Amino acid sequence: MTFLFNSDATRGAIFREVLAREIPDLPFEIDPAQVDADEVRYMITWLVPPDLGAYRNIEILFSIGAGIDQFNAASVPASVKIVRMVEDGIVRMMQEYVALAVLALHRSWTVYLDQQRQQLWRAIPQPQAHVRRIGVLGLGLLGRAVLERLKPFGFPLSGWSRSRHAIDGVTTYHGADGLDAILAVTDILVCLLPLTEETRGLLNAELLAKLPRGASLVQTGRGAQLEQAALLGALDSGHLAGAVLDVTDPEPLPTDHPLWRHPRVLITPHVASVTQPEAAALAVAANIKRHRAGLDPVGLVDRSRGY
Ligand code: NAP
Ligand code: GLV
Repeated sequence: MTFLFNSDATRGAIFREVLAREIPDLPFEIDPAQVDADEVRYMITWLVPPDLGAYRNIEILFSIGAGIDQFNAASVPASVKIVRMVEDGIVRMMQEYVALAVLALHRSWTVYLDQQRQQLWRAIPQPQAHVRRIGVLGLGLLGRAVLERLKPFGFPLSGWSRSRHAIDGVTTYHGADGLDAILAVTDILVCLLPLTEETRGLLNAELLAKLPRGASLVQTGRGAQLEQAALLGALDSGHLAGAVLDVTDPEPLPTDHPLWRHPRVLITPHVASVTQPEAAALAVAANIKRHRAGLDPVGLVDRSRGY
């Protein structure tokens, strides 16, 4: 029974140390060439390796990331549990990033950065937080955590999900009907949805047009959810005031893409949350212990939903 770490050696060394401490009877290997494939019960990886079929006795495939859209789940036998990364570092970093992005848009920092480049000293009328409505798409681990972090600022908060949720201090919407309803009352839209067949291209021209004039976007989900040409159109027509993008399609965004140079857009290179190796190794160890005890791992992916 072996744990195969299919990623970089630096993080691998941390995983080796943590797993040896937490589960001393579990052999650890980082080099697939050194392992008896039949012995591998657990693997952690970013992409599903093409030779996954060689590991006939694998029980859990752990994703290094919180999202699993990069996994070709269809290539993973149904008997194998797919588990996404759930660890505190990812949550805290996403809270920081979205709070920063929302405040930057709320306080017109895209405009002020542009004015700075022109040495222009000009104040913009500042709406107060209690009239700036924030809508979060996705009420999972990250969407809920972000809403909690935004509460003290006093923004009116809303959230949207597939199934119904009740969250103290947040107006919640769900399903297709709920989408139009949340868009109508959102000045800063935050996307924290997983990429699935249902959410691919969801942020299109039709959706952006349903936001109030002057609204802004924070995209921290996955690049393929946003139709970038539609965003450019909405910014250039003045319908949208700004956007903060952590994810694009493709990544990296090509150097000649007009979003790079758009004065109302801030772009970061998919860094909103980065898996923290020590915490991730502890989360994986806890999940292996749960699995051995006959419990479902935390972060178990529901393949019928795709997340
Ligand atoms: P999660 O716990 O699985 O939550 C997903 C949420 O999205 C749930 O509330 C779910 O609704 C909702 N949802 C899914 N499909 C939907 C649909 N078709 N219509 C409406 N709502 C839908 O995921 P999470 O941990 O919060 O992470 C969310 C995503 O953030 C990840 O999948 C990843 O793409 C992205 N992410 C980005 C970064 C970054 O650095 N940029 C880092 C980590 C994660 P229900 O509650 O009804 O199931
Ligand atoms: C990063 O985007 C992740 O899924 O952890």
